[in-house]
Amino acid sequence: MISLESVSKKYNRKSVALEDVSLFIEPGEMVSIVGQSGSGKTTLVKLLIAEERASSGRVKIGDWDITRVSRRDVPLLRRQIGVIFQDFKLLAKKTVYENVAFALQVAGESPFRIREVVPEVIEIVGLQDKMSRYPHQLSGGEQQRVVIARSLVHRPKIIVADEPTGNLDAINTQEIIDILSKINDFGTTILLVTHNKDVVNHLRKRVITIHGGQIVSDQQSGKYRL
Ligand SMILES: Nc1ncnc2c1ncn2[C@@H]1O[C@H](COP(=O)(O)OP(=O)(O)OP(=O)(O)O)[C@@H](O)[C@H]1O
Ligand SMILES: [Mg+2]
Repeated sequence: MISLESVSKKYNRKSVALEDVSLFIEPGEMVSIVGQSGSGKTTLVKLLIAEERASSGRVKIGDWDITRVSRRDVPLLRRQIGVIFQDFKLLAKKTVYENVAFALQVAGESPFRIREVVPEVIEIVGLQDKMSRYPHQLSGGEQQRVVIARSLVHRPKIIVADEPTGNLDAINTQEIIDILSKINDFGTTILLVTHNKDVVNHLRKRVITIHGGQIVSDQQSGKYRL
């Protein structure tokens, strides 16, 4: 489903963020990407969502060659990949419901479809009782659950989460990971970038370690050893 073939990314002459990375992720896998700060994790995420272009090599999602995706097709790509970043970026003046609905409105979905999908995805993250709240009336963990709900509105086959628990305490972190695991159980491929050793060790799923822009280990049911 996701494949990288000898992918390198140089931001400039001095900065090599990824070097000759090859990687294959099967549909339905949940994979953690770990590594020290500056090792190239976010760069990998950005290549997948075409926010950055590879300097060489090929990035593919299914048969789709992301390294050649035209600017016009980027929104189409982004709808197939749910993206979750650490900084929540919810709209402060919109409620939970409206924040999630907004993602569908900007994509031009019909009011009928919006009324159908929004409660469904809010229920997946367990916020059905808080749909009318504003972001400032939610805990950090709840805000991140809204972000996850929003990432689900287009029913993506892939979710990419870059440090989704970076700002959260242990309990909220576990809740977010449990929700991501549940979404994975539905069949969605999940790529989880994290610094959190406990998360990775507890998940007991595939772990890829990046160091200096290269994959230094790739283990099934792995442990985070850094
Ligand atoms: N836009 C950019 N221009 C130049 N260099 C960049 C740019 N973005 C990232 N880099 C460099 O590329 C390398 C990899 O950065 P990246 O953000 O992928 O690391 P990371 O593993 O996500 O780190 P962190 O754990 O701190 O988020 C770093 O050396 C970084 O300084
Ligand atoms: Mg990063």
